[in-house]
This record gives sequence, structure tokens and C-alpha cells, in this order.
Amino acid sequence: MYANLNPVLRFLKILRNTSWKPTEIDGIRFNFFVKQRHGTTIGVGNNHIIKIQNDKHKGKALDLDGEADLIKYLNDCNCISAPQLQHRGRIDGKPYLICNRILQRRGLRDVDVLFAFLELKGCGVVHFDLRHHNIGPLPHGNNVFFNGQFCVLIDYDQAVYDANVSQMPFSELFAYLERKYPDHNSDYMPIKNQLDAYNYNKYFNNGKLDLSATSLVTKGETTIGHKGVYHDISENFLYLKGERGLKARLPVLERIHFSGESILDVGCNTGLLTRYMAGRGAKYVEGIEYSKEHSLVGQMINNCEGLKNVRIIHHDLGKEILTSNYDTIMLFSVLHHINGMEFAIRQIRDHCERIIIECRVQEDGYQFKGKWRKTNKWSFSSIDELIAYLECQFKFKFSRNYGAVDRGRRILELIKV
Ligand SMILES: C[S@@+](CC[C@H](N)C(=O)[O-])C[C@H]1O[C@@H](n2cnc3c(N)ncnc32)[C@H](O)[C@@H]1O
Repeated sequence: MYANLNPVLRFLKILRNTSWKPTEIDGIRFNFFVKQRHGTTIGVGNNHIIKIQNDKHKGKALDLDGEADLIKYLNDCNCISAPQLQHRGRIDGKPYLICNRILQRRGLRDVDVLFAFLELKGCGVVHFDLRHHNIGPLPHGNNVFFNGQFCVLIDYDQAVYDANVSQMPFSELFAYLERKYPDHNSDYMPIKNQLDAYNYNKYFNNGKLDLSATSLVTKGETTIGHKGVYHDISENFLYLKGERGLKARLPVLERIHFSGESILDVGCNTGLLTRYMAGRGAKYVEGIEYSKEHSLVGQMINNCEGLKNVRIIHHDLGKEILTSNYDTIMLFSVLHHINGMEFAIRQIRDHCERIIIECRVQEDGYQFKGKWRKTNKWSFSSIDELIAYLECQFKFKFSRNYGAVDRGRRILELIKV
């Protein structure tokens, strides 16, 4: 809104169109309302934004109901880069939607916007209006927001849902969008030019986004080595250089049956194993991760790749209970790191039929809480002693040793008795 005006004129114009009458809608208080040029009114509350459609604007791809449907769809995909739709309805016959208000904080990086754009694309949504020049201190009128950790894209009246884009290589995307949505590319700046403003060429290599400079990746810490990034990832649309990948574990992992199972991956980091197991036919995979930042990266990656049956959430198994049951719980290089290991063991044994664990006969655990702190330690002289210890802790029965993988670790299976 008023994007091309200088900031002072813009502010004066907004003031002139503002009504200061606080109003309660759906139990939420909105402190002031700004009438916009394109037939909508924006109301601002402490933690919420309401958008009311006065007239349908011809130049917009979606009316307000369409916008609410699209945000709801993105919420159902657990899309991190979208706001949360809280309420929708009618006031005096006019449609409205209420979303959480994202308080913009400093620190937005170009690559954060590209990661958000890619996440929406993976969900089959093209935003089409990433106004780079329009980032300001006001809580409305800007479509690119930064919540201090990751970028949130707001304002979906120019967005489209198109399932074709989800798996489309980046190299084909712009030509496809220009062909399929010529109006978007003539009335508004083509999406390629908008992404140019975010230096997208700098962050893509061979059509894949390099996540290493994103705020989430740089703030998260899941290993003492390699810039704090544990997983080494190369997916269809992005990559991340970390300390450990899957390659060395694959020959052993391939012997394990996952097909049709519901699986929990504890300490899933950025979700490398969750995606592998989904690819091996698991029915549903949930990942839980102690690092908030890296759990968000993992969920965003799953969305970028268009995976629907994998979900990653932020969860500390050292003190938070599990609320679902699973066929299998994966404990890969994690059990000894958990601060609150006995609590975690009780949760695990009560919520699954099978445990697959990757660990060494001697382990030293660490967890990052502002700095790295020691957690648990064990030292056995043989694999049999380790197995006896695990059987006793979990009260499960050892069933199979799948074999040795990299760094002296073994993959063992225990089943419920
Ligand atoms: C060494 S990494 C292993 C990552 C992954 N499981 C793999 O094998 O590739 C250990 C992971 O467990 C996570 N973690 C540590 N304590 C945890 C806890 N209490 N709850 C959930 N995750 C935890 C760490 O943040 C880290 O991402």
C-alpha cells in the first residue's frame, strides 16, 4: 500500500485513512483500522490483524474468501512461512479474515525470503507479490515479514494454488508462470524480477537453494562441528553442507523394513532420516527435535520437497510427554544426548512396538543450552553388554543387529515383549 511514496508522505496518507475507534471482533480487540486503496480495510490488534473486504478488486487474483481458503490450506500443510488463520466470517455482509500479527524484527536476509518462497512453491502456491521495496515499520502493507527467526509471507490476494509448481525445477518455473499467468506478469512485476531483488542467482546452485546462510540454519546449533549443522543434505530443490549425511548408513538402513509403518524419529535434526523413511514407504513419519531452529528448517525442507506424510516439530523428549503411539521409534545417535534420559526411555517404551537404535558401545552425550553441556555417558566392553543394558532400560527384547555403520556405530532392533 502506498508503496511508491516516500516514507513521510506514505505515513501521512495512512494517517488520513485511519479510524481510531477500537472494536472487538470474535473476542479480539482491534485498536485502529486503515482503509486501503484496493477495497479492503485492515484492522490492527496487539497480536492480530483483520482484513475486511469492502469491494472485490478486479485486479486481484483472489477475493478475500479465496485468500482465507489459501491460508487455511497452507496451515494444513504446516507451512512455516504462512501466517495462521485464526478466524473468518462476515461483518455486515462483508467477508473478513483474522490472522496472527507478525511483529517484524530486524535481520531479514534475502535467502530467508527465498526459502519461504520455495516452501510455498513446494505446497503448490506461488505468492506473486514479494514486495522488496515495501518493507517498513508499519504492520501492514508489507508482504515480506521477518519474525526474528524466519520469513513469513503475508497478503495472499495475488497468490495462486497450482499443484504443477510443487515439483517443478526452478529453471522451468519462470517460463511456466509467464505462460500460464500472463496477467500476473504484466500488471505486476514478473516474479523473476521480484526474486532478482533478493539476489536469487547468488543462492541457487544448479537449481538448488543453498540453505547455509538462512537465519534458522545459522542460529541453530546441533553439533560442535561444522558450523553447528549436523545434517548434510542434498534434496531436489535445496542443499545444506553439514557434518553427517546418510550415504555411509544406507547399506545397513536398506535392510530395515519401514513400509506402511507410523514412525517417530527422535532427535531428527533437519529431518534427513524422516525423508528417507517416507521414501521407503512409511505411512507417516513424525520427527521431534530439541533445536527449535533446526526443527523449523526440517519442516520447511519437507514442504519445499512437497512431502505430505512427514511432519517435524520442536520437542524436548527429556521433559515433554509423547501423545501418540507409533509402530517404530528411531533413536539414531540421540539417546545418550538427551538430558532427562530416564524420562525419555519411559516415554519411548510406552509408545511403540519396536525401537531401532543407532549408537556405540561407548558414548558421551552433549546438549546445547547456550553452550555445550555434558549429559549422559556409558561405556561397555562389548556389544552384548550394550544390548543387555538396552534390554534392561527399555524392557524390550533384542531382536536384530543390522550391522555397523560409520563412526563405529551399530544399528540394533528391540521389540516389545
Ligand atoms: C547427533 S544428532 C543425530 C541426528 C539424527 N538422529 C541422525 O542420526 O542423523 C542428535 C540430535 O538429537 C537432538 N536432541 C538432543 N537432545 C534431544 C531431546 N531431549 N529431544 C529431542 N531431540 C534431542 C539434537 O538437537 C540433535 O539434532
